[in-house]
Amino acid sequence: MKIFAGNSNETLAKQVAEHLDIPLGVANVRRFADQEIFVEILENVRGEDCFVLQSTSFPANDNLMELLIMIDALRRASARRITAVIPYFGYARQDRKPGPRAPISAKLVANMITEAGADRVLTLDLHAAQIQGFFDIPTDNLFAVPVLSRDAKEHLDVQNVMVVSPDVGGVVRARALAKRLDSLLAIVDKRRDKPGESEVMNVIGDVKGKDCILIDDIIDSGGTLCNAAEALLKMGATSVTAYITHGVLSGGAVARITSSKLKELVITDSIEPTSAVQAASNIRVVSIAELMGEAVKRTASEKSVSSLFD
Ligand code: R5P
Repeated sequence: MKIFAGNSNETLAKQVAEHLDIPLGVANVRRFADQEIFVEILENVRGEDCFVLQSTSFPANDNLMELLIMIDALRRASARRITAVIPYFGYARQDRKPGPRAPISAKLVANMITEAGADRVLTLDLHAAQIQGFFDIPTDNLFAVPVLSRDAKEHLDVQNVMVVSPDVGGVVRARALAKRLDSLLAIVDKRRDKPGESEVMNVIGDVKGKDCILIDDIIDSGGTLCNAAEALLKMGATSVTAYITHGVLSGGAVARITSSKLKELVITDSIEPTSAVQAASNIRVVSIAELMGEAVKRTASEKSVSSLFD
């Protein structure tokens, strides 16, 4: 087997390769003068089981194109099987038509990856589990919950925690964490009664005196998280910590988090943390390298991946 990486997550890719006890495949992924992407695979891959690790995070379009072009290069170089390892699958938030004339970008991107020549996909905490079905090739959607719950047990007094979903859509994910921590579950229900009126945050569940853990798949602007944290504190929560798989953290999100009342935000390295993230006093990164590495290993040796979560 061989594992290659684009430019999105070099650090994670190296750690995954270390877990597999193989060197990272040698490839040249750079830009032409006009910023077109240039890819050259610099070792023989004929008949090999190849993995390409690349998140479609910021800059999303460049990273997506790098992934597609690397898959194309491997296919034309006669790789036996190509697995796209996508720790963060971007373009996932337009996954249905909420109104007329809306695209389903998640399906379009799934088609592009398949069309480029991927035989399998390995990803983590898809924004919506059903995006798995947008790929007509085998797709494994890993869960970060085991990594996050282990971290929570190490860093928090789990006797007094209440797991909270920041919106109704995230209840299944929150329930999975609550089950592992043997805790109760609360839900923040966002309501906007009329267009233009500000959102009202109703908290379903008694969070008074509890150390709340908010869990979500994505933090982008930080709005959802900070508003939910404020609502919980207003309802008497003692503290609010957040566990979020994908730290998109665009615009002024890091500043928003550092100046918020959050005790801590814990994210994974599915997206390479920027220097601002690394310097933030209340943001911590836990690694998914072992989880991804083990899933890659099991895929290569045709072993069960789902049993990783038993
Ligand atoms: C929404 O359904 C997602 O699970 C996240 O809650 C959302 O993408 C977070 O975005 P932001 O940080 O910009 O509020």
